[in-house]
Amino acid sequence: MRILAIESSCDETAAAVVEDGRRVLSNVIASQTRVHGAYFGVVPELASRCHIEYALPVVREALDLAAQSLGVRTADFEASTKSLALDAIAVTRGPGLIGSLLVGVETAKTLAWVWNLPLIPVHHIAGHLRSVFCELPAGQSRILEIPPEGDDSAPEWKSDAESCAVESQSAGPPSPNTRQRKPVFDYPYLGLVVSGGHSSIIRADAPDRLRVLGAALDDAPGEAYDKVAKRLGLGYPGGPAVDRLAAEGDPQAFDLPRPVLHARNYDFSFSGLKTAVVRVIEDLGGPDRLRGDGTALRDLCASFQAAVVEVLLTKAERALKGERLSRLAIVGGVACNRGLRAEAARRFGRIHLVFPPPVLCTDNAAMIAAAAAHVKPLCKEEALALDARAGWELP
Ligand code: KG4
Ligand code: ZN
Repeated sequence: MRILAIESSCDETAAAVVEDGRRVLSNVIASQTRVHGAYFGVVPELASRCHIEYALPVVREALDLAAQSLGVRTADFEASTKSLALDAIAVTRGPGLIGSLLVGVETAKTLAWVWNLPLIPVHHIAGHLRSVFCELPAGQSRILEIPPEGDDSAPEWKSDAESCAVESQSAGPPSPNTRQRKPVFDYPYLGLVVSGGHSSIIRADAPDRLRVLGAALDDAPGEAYDKVAKRLGLGYPGGPAVDRLAAEGDPQAFDLPRPVLHARNYDFSFSGLKTAVVRVIEDLGGPDRLRGDGTALRDLCASFQAAVVEVLLTKAERALKGERLSRLAIVGGVACNRGLRAEAARRFGRIHLVFPPPVLCTDNAAMIAAAAAHVKPLCKEEALALDARAGWELP
């Protein structure tokens, strides 16, 4: 089963072709990071406009790359679907920004109609949870940085060498015999979904049997990273910048709160932590002064990151025990975080822990195609009537 998927829920226009829910033939992403950078956050109106401009070029690139990897010729769009023998088109229906989702949904509906293919709507979080099953060979990802308004330079597709090199199953139970193969990751497992828009702890018993055990009560962790970075003047998205600085700082330098750490539930809250960091920034003389003092800046980033990581992993650990699970998948944009990866590997040495490669942590369409392989396609009438759902709950 070969599926072309489109993802446009936030600020990445993405398309991918995936075989049998696992093998990634192409993973193509046009990123709007530079477009929103000046505003320190996603501007929905700009995001929708970029999706409209890039949706078809991204699909085209995904089809070309998939064709190349299969060694088939693709003269044009029409020829691509025939020679690629696509079985279905999948699309992120929600949750996300409504204007962004609409572009992906309408593009997918149109292509499914024109090419006479079944349409499969996918939940964005179900996609993140399937990302750990994607097998992404080196060279199958292409990234394009969309230039900001006023920059007329022609953007170029780049192969994402760094992300392709990272293993998709980064940790597992320690094996006394290093020659022994790692066990294959499977259901049931606990999913710690940590991203910018939505975050939760989910029990996954099967692709279509997902139960939310806890969620962010206010700011999602990625949102807290972005807001702290914005306050420090570190640019957007904030996660990678704070992560880099934190690696060189002292995580115990500042005594920051660990909100709802001891509450007997699997929810988390980062708004209070973010406010505490903002107060420290003011106490230290404001962001400009702090950026001039490298040590204090690195220490504050490290202390903030340590608090986030401790809350996330303590909640995950409690949920693993409560649900009697021995597998953990950490997914979503914040799963790129090096501090989180290192501490999780240290803390969860006895369970089967997996992270996707970074290019499949942040929003992508490969995870949507992988999830779609387990969702029933819509009939033609249902496909034509499909709507985008900004606040779609996990079915
Ligand atoms: O999953 P994603 O691409 O989009 C949503 O579905 O929200 O996640 C984006 C989020 C942003 O908030 C970004 O700051 C965060 O992931 N992020 C990171 C890192 N890389 C990306 N957060 C912490 N450390 C990182 N290295
Ligand atoms: Zn996401």
